[in-house]
Amino acid sequence: MPVWSSSVTRGDDGVLAVGGMDVRTLAAEHGTPLYVVDEADFRVRAAAFRDHFTAAFGRHRAKVDVFYAGKAFLASQVAGWMREEDLCLDVASRGELEIALRGGMPPERIGLHGNNKAEDELRRALSVGVGRIIVDSFTEIEVLDALAREMGVTAPVLVRVTTGVHAGGHEYIATSHEDQKFGLSLASGAAYDAMLACHDAVGLNLLGIHTHIGSQILSIDAFRESADRMLRLRAAFMADTGAALPEVDLGGGYAIAYTEDAEALEPSVAAYEIADAVASVMDPIGGEWPRFSIEPGRAIAGPAGLTVYTVGVTKDVKLDEGGSRQYVAVDGGMSDNPRTIMYGAEYHAEVASRVSDAPLTLSRVVGKHCESGDIIVRDVQLPEDTRRGDLLAVAATGAYGRSMASTYNAALRPAVVAVRDGASKVLVRRDTLEDLLSWDVAGD
Ligand SMILES: Cc1ncc(COP(=O)(O)O)c(C=O)c1O
Repeated sequence: MPVWSSSVTRGDDGVLAVGGMDVRTLAAEHGTPLYVVDEADFRVRAAAFRDHFTAAFGRHRAKVDVFYAGKAFLASQVAGWMREEDLCLDVASRGELEIALRGGMPPERIGLHGNNKAEDELRRALSVGVGRIIVDSFTEIEVLDALAREMGVTAPVLVRVTTGVHAGGHEYIATSHEDQKFGLSLASGAAYDAMLACHDAVGLNLLGIHTHIGSQILSIDAFRESADRMLRLRAAFMADTGAALPEVDLGGGYAIAYTEDAEALEPSVAAYEIADAVASVMDPIGGEWPRFSIEPGRAIAGPAGLTVYTVGVTKDVKLDEGGSRQYVAVDGGMSDNPRTIMYGAEYHAEVASRVSDAPLTLSRVVGKHCESGDIIVRDVQLPEDTRRGDLLAVAATGAYGRSMASTYNAALRPAVVAVRDGASKVLVRRDTLEDLLSWDVAGD
């Protein structure tokens, strides 16, 4: 699988360019580390979800909304791109909601998530009129109902269902098994009871049900199984209560290729298989199809992004099992990409600012933080002559990089720039030392 975004090329001089911009120019203009987003690629990926799911479900005369999961990476300009591409937007905090609104995303196209939403998040969502609040607990149902009644509005809600389908690349990103914090269990009856509670609550309008089974999912069977369980739950509830339940959200989690030998779950395949799976449940049940929605995050933002670092130090280490490993230390690390240390994520990297004729050697790209686990790319082949001053590009870092970045070791979080047609624009500016010192409260 190609790991770079579609506009990545190597010019005649061998230098990597993205969106028509040479990485050396990007580094000179914006500094490193630098997150680079290929705007056209990002939009094309969003449009691919929209178009394939619309076509696949359209064959069954059903409608689908695509909610871009902003937790993958959100900036107000990105919210604007999603608005222009006719997508909706998932947010999971007050901050994400404010960025989405600043980007001009219409509130009715925003969904608010969270397993422990604060009252101010719920109030703000109700006052701006977000299209849906995905309720995650009985406590939230009570709190939201009370707030909505106090504010004289009706809250549109979906109940987050834990279907028991376990899927995803890592325990911490699989979200629909029983023993974890999200959602209401299908198996125990909690989901059904929560739906009843919403149905009966004067301040709530139960639109339907939601599930998200995990992330980095390659198996279409997992999506099939969860759709099956969701639709049976919906049918049972409708038969018992006469409720309409016009919406079903099947969540995100579509896998992307982080390395050259990895696979991705393409929307051009997933859309038709999921629509057919839905049809195989809906057709025997009969009745009107709900309006579906999906929530891809990583599959839109991930491959559209890359990170550019400057190499500082290299060293060779003899391995006990024989051979050696080249350590390549760059000017960022776990503060701008915590996924390797958190999930054992794998990445692909290349020297981007020149071509080298030197032989490739087993290498590890590490950061500058005070942890030996501060690894960005565990195993990658890099030229033996990789050296100080080289620019190194790491592919597919567009999702859960900047959005999970920290200031560990008082690091300054890198800027995010969008590139397109030979020009760049800043989406999120780099932290400055002044920012850092302004967060610190000096003593007397
Ligand atoms: C509720 C929900 N929807 C969608 C997503 C997006 O997942 P992904 O980026 O893997 O598509 C997440 C990720 O955590 C999520 O929690």
